[in-house]
Amino acid sequence: MTVTFTLNGGTCRFHGDPMTPLVDLLRNERYLTGTKAVCREGFCGACTVEVDGAAVMSCLKPVGLLAGSSVTTIEALATGEAAMHPLQAAFAEADVVQCGMCFPGMVMSLSAFLRDTPAPDREAVKAAMVGNICRCTGYERIVDAVMAFVARGQEGATHG
Ligand code: FES
Ligand code: FES
Repeated sequence: MTVTFTLNGGTCRFHGDPMTPLVDLLRNERYLTGTKAVCREGFCGACTVEVDGAAVMSCLKPVGLLAGSSVTTIEALATGEAAMHPLQAAFAEADVVQCGMCFPGMVMSLSAFLRDTPAPDREAVKAAMVGNICRCTGYERIVDAVMAFVARGQEGATHG
């Protein structure tokens, strides 16, 4: 089966088993290894990407269902000249990243959430992170980093 969709702004043509999980196409054929495959069962969130603007676990998404869709991975989340999306930069500044396995998925989930909810409170951020497991860093510190990012955005909105 051939499936054509948009991947990080370019055309992606996949030929093969339509049940192939998107995470395997990304990592093994496109070498987009920022997307992590950890549990492969929809529990950890490490494989999260955006499909048509929504956060999706790519280990549970068969490529055969992607015809005509637009997929964005962590590699294409930053725009313009920026090396990192501002949320990635906020995590780096707060020094919350340890092994790093969870962070691409966490950034993808939270960036989609923050696009729809630009001024969440702490509890809403925690609820948005419920599908992303981190084995290293305390969750409170991650929430601190997100709230710092949110505060900076509100400051920009106030002074911009
Ligand atoms: S690898 Fe997809 S949810 Fe864990
Ligand atoms: S930093 Fe290691 S799993 Fe989150």
